[in-house]
Amino acid sequence: MQRLLVVVLSLLFLAGCEGKAPQSELPIFDDPQLSLGMNTWMQVCRNCHLTGVAGAPAIHDANAWQARMKSGREKLYKSALNGIATDSGWSMPPKGGMQQLSDQQVKLAVDYMLAAQQQLITEQRP
Ligand code: HEC
Repeated sequence: MQRLLVVVLSLLFLAGCEGKAPQSELPIFDDPQLSLGMNTWMQVCRNCHLTGVAGAPAIHDANAWQARMKSGREKLYKSALNGIATDSGWSMPPKGGMQQLSDQQVKLAVDYMLAAQQQLITEQRP
């Protein structure tokens, strides 16, 4: 019984860390457009792009974003809007699976993710 309690407590502890720490490290911008983008990002894109679920480039992963940025921002918008298909289904569903988002909301979420990772790189430089 006591062991079970320990397990439950450590799970709660882990859950607590996961919910808080990375989120508070995410940059917040004064730009109202980027704030809107952040709202969408937090609600939808974060699920996969915070830590990089199922091959998604994580918001902190500067190398992954540098590589993807080479094709240009328009290409990234397009992928986010139309999704990315693989042989076995969607790698990323269109609009991150939230069809009710407007195109503009999705684009702003992309803008937020790119601005945030730029900021994170700058902070990491000595
Ligand atoms: C269900 C998980 C999931 C969600 C939710 C999700 N993505 Fe993704 N995203 C992925 C994966 C996986 C990839 C990598 C796909 C690949 O390259 O095969 C990706 C790649 C991307 C890329 C790079 C595209 C490219 O052409 O290189 C952008 C930009 C992106 N996502 C934006 C978003 C935005 C904006 C949202 C929220 C509206 C979002 N994603 C929500 C899983 C997700």
